[in-house]
Amino acid sequence: MATKISPSPTLKRGGWWISELGVMSFTGKVILITGASSGIGAETAKHFAQLGALLSITGLNNAAIVELCSTETPSLEQYNIFNVNIRSVFQLTTLAVPYLIKTKGNIINVSSVTGLRPLKNNLPYCMSKAALDQFTRCVALELHHDRCMSFAGKVVLITGASSGIGAETAIHFAQLGASLSITGRNKHNLEKVAEQCGQPKPFSVTGDLANENDVKNIIDSTIKHYGKIDVLVNNAAITEFGSIETASLEQYDNIFKVNVRSVLQLTTLAVPHLIKTKGNIVNVSSVAGLRPLKNNLSYCMSKAALDQFTRCVALELASRQVRVNSVNPGAVSTNILRNTGLTQEQIKILLEQLKEGHALGRIGDTLEIAKTIAFLASDDASFMTGVTMPVDGGWHATSAQSNLNITRQ
Ligand SMILES: NC(=O)c1ccc[n+]([C@@H]2O[C@H](COP(=O)([O-])OP(=O)(O)OC[C@H]3O[C@@H](n4cnc5c(N)ncnc54)[C@H](OP(=O)(O)O)[C@@H]3O)[C@@H](O)[C@H]2O)c1
Repeated sequence: MATKISPSPTLKRGGWWISELGVMSFTGKVILITGASSGIGAETAKHFAQLGALLSITGLNNAAIVELCSTETPSLEQYNIFNVNIRSVFQLTTLAVPYLIKTKGNIINVSSVTGLRPLKNNLPYCMSKAALDQFTRCVALELHHDRCMSFAGKVVLITGASSGIGAETAIHFAQLGASLSITGRNKHNLEKVAEQCGQPKPFSVTGDLANENDVKNIIDSTIKHYGKIDVLVNNAAITEFGSIETASLEQYDNIFKVNVRSVLQLTTLAVPHLIKTKGNIVNVSSVAGLRPLKNNLSYCMSKAALDQFTRCVALELASRQVRVNSVNPGAVSTNILRNTGLTQEQIKILLEQLKEGHALGRIGDTLEIAKTIAFLASDDASFMTGVTMPVDGGWHATSAQSNLNITRQ
């Protein structure tokens, strides 16, 4: 049976919550203690309560049991000690880990000196505690990586989250514990992505980035919903094919309106909130910002402008501890080509051609880009700003001709 205990009063001194026992405080922390109905577990529960913790305590009688027995008085029944001392710990920890990853929490296993030193006439208990000690070491190793990157308590706003790289990025951030605000034009697709993100369900806001009022609404409604923004991912963009001989001013206007102008407007509106949270921005650019492509002039120029935007704003916001970086993907199979009006067959041919542009000889995967976006947004990249990071299978380093030799039907 689980019981909740309210925390005992704590004192506030100099902005710190301090328990009456010293500077250690667990105010706002939820602690689950098994075997809290007796002995060490009961005393631990009382002590955490005094330190301000919110407690969930549980016990039948005790969370570990001991029975006296040796190899000469064997009984497989006594081996049942393992059910409580190890099997239940394994099960409870497995169930708790997803929540602990979200809170960057920790686990304390109460073992025994008998896990470290043998004791006569106490065989299954000694073995169970030795197993528990190895469990502690194994799980510590396993959870190290996940613990490093967590967005628990962070609000992440992602544009173009209804498709492709933006959708994958939303799902990835959700797995890392972020509170999401996702936006796109297609309400149905946005809802599908929100479902894939699981619980807590992201806040979804539809809007056309080419419309100034919609852009304003994306920021206003996110702030109304969450009260803050920690990370802005400027991901939405469009592309069209056309060269200096074939591209129209209309094409230029369409592309720059979404890929550059809306980014400037959205970022301007987000910056006051990002300064408050010492947050950061990740812009999704392209290898097309770093290397020229034939027949994709306006898109290439828009991404080059975005890259310089990244560097300029990184400089401008550095003194406010707001980082600004960019990820520059190579080709990735998403809806972006379909939206240019190319047929499935043309897209297939083009993607085959594009493989050759990548030193690794293949196109990228949306998750490869999403993981880099999350890295740049995380504390692991705390000393990085103004970076335009290619995730392009080495395209930026090749001297291959970049010829999008295809025309619309
Ligand atoms: N895929 C690649 O090969 C590749 C390579 C390098 C860089 N990138 C970059 O990666 C980013 C994501 O592209 P993707 O490949 O994932 O493309 P995608 O699958 O076509 O997704 C584009 C997203 O942008 C949104 N969007 C487009 N125009 C919009 C507008 N006017 N208002 C609001 N939202 C708009 C779309 O929303 P709706 O669908 O709801 O309209 C969609 O969610 C882009 O910045 C792109 O330049 C892609």
